[in-house]
Amino acid sequence: MKILLTGAKGQVGQEVVELASQLACEIVACSKAELDITDPGQLESVVQARQPTLVINAAAYTAVDKAEQEIDKAYAINRDGVQNLALVCKAHDLPLIHLSTDYVFDGEKASAYVEEDPRAPLNVYGASKAEGELLLQKEWEKHVIVRTSWVFGKQGPNFVKTILRLAMKQPELRVVCDQKGCPTAAADLAGALLKLAQQITQGQAHWGIFHYCGDQETTWYEFAQRIVYHGKDYFPLKLEKLHPIVSADYPTPAKRPKNSVLNRKKIEKECGLAPSAWEPALVRMIQHINQKDALREQLSA
Ligand SMILES: NC(=O)c1ccc[n+]([C@@H]2O[C@H](COP(=O)([O-])OP(=O)(O)OC[C@H]3O[C@@H](n4cnc5c(N)ncnc54)[C@H](OP(=O)(O)O)[C@@H]3O)[C@@H](O)[C@H]2O)c1
Repeated sequence: MKILLTGAKGQVGQEVVELASQLACEIVACSKAELDITDPGQLESVVQARQPTLVINAAAYTAVDKAEQEIDKAYAINRDGVQNLALVCKAHDLPLIHLSTDYVFDGEKASAYVEEDPRAPLNVYGASKAEGELLLQKEWEKHVIVRTSWVFGKQGPNFVKTILRLAMKQPELRVVCDQKGCPTAAADLAGALLKLAQQITQGQAHWGIFHYCGDQETTWYEFAQRIVYHGKDYFPLKLEKLHPIVSADYPTPAKRPKNSVLNRKKIEKECGLAPSAWEPALVRMIQHINQKDALREQLSA
C-alpha cells in the first residue's frame, strides 16, 4: 500500500504521517505547497510521478468563521478541490478516503445524526464541505467519506490548546454550554483512516459515508471543564472560574449547529472501528505538550 496524503501539514495530516511512519506504512505526504488540490494539473502530475495505490484527503479550508467572508476560497478548496481529486482518482482507479464534517447538518435533530440524514448546513464552511461530498459521490464510486467532529490534537490550533492558553492568562472564562458534540482525538482519527486504507487494499472495502468521532457526547463548556481539570496537573493555570454561557451571548460570524453528535454505529459494525476514547487521549495530548518545549511555548505565547 502506498498512500498519497494531501494536507499533510494539517492537524489530522500530521498525525497520519506520524502513525504511518510508526507502522512502516509507505506514504507520500504532500503539504499544500507540494500539492494544491485546487490545481488539477499538479494533482495529475503528482499521481503520475508517485504512483500511489490510494489517496487520503486531509486537505481542506477549515476556518469556519473566516469562510463567511472568504466564500470563494472555501468553495474552491472544499468543493472544487474535492472534485479535482475525485476525477484524478477515477482516471487512475485510485480509492479515495475523504474527510468531512458534522457541520453538514443543521443541529436541529433531537438524537445523534446517522449517515443517511439529510445535509442542511448552517454556514459557508459546512455548505462547501457538503457540496464536496456530493461531487465526490457523483464523480467516483470508490470513495469513503469519513465525517468527524470537534477534532483536537497536539499539532495545529484547536479548542484544547485555546482553553489551556487562555486558562494560563485569565482568572475567568466563558464557554458555550448549548452546543453538544463528540470530541475526536486527531491521533485516533489517523488510526481509523489508516485502518480503512488497509481494509481497502486487502479487498475488504466499505464504500460510502461513515461517521467517526469520540465515544462520549459533551458540550463545549463541559469539554473545557475536563481540559482544565487535566491541564492543571501540568500547566500553571490562573483560571479560577469557568462560566457557562449560551450561544446567543457569544455571537460568531458563522452559525453553529446546537447538536453535532454523530452516530458512529455504522463504522463500528461494518469496519470494526471503535470510537475515539477522547478523555484518555486528551490526557495523553496534555502530557505530550508538557514534555515538548516548542509546544509548551506555543501555549504561553
Ligand atoms: N478540526 C476539526 O475540528 C474538524 C471537525 C470536523 C471535520 N474536520 C475535517 O477534517 C479534515 C482535516 O481537518 P484539520 O483539523 O486537520 O484541518 P487543518 O489543520 O486546517 O488542515 C488542513 C490542511 O489543508 C491544507 N490546505 C488548505 N488548502 C489546501 C489546498 N488547496 N491544497 C492542499 N492543501 C490545502 C492546509 O494548509 P494551510 O494551513 O497552509 O492552508 C492545512 O495544512 C478536514 O476535511 C476538515 O473539514 C475537522
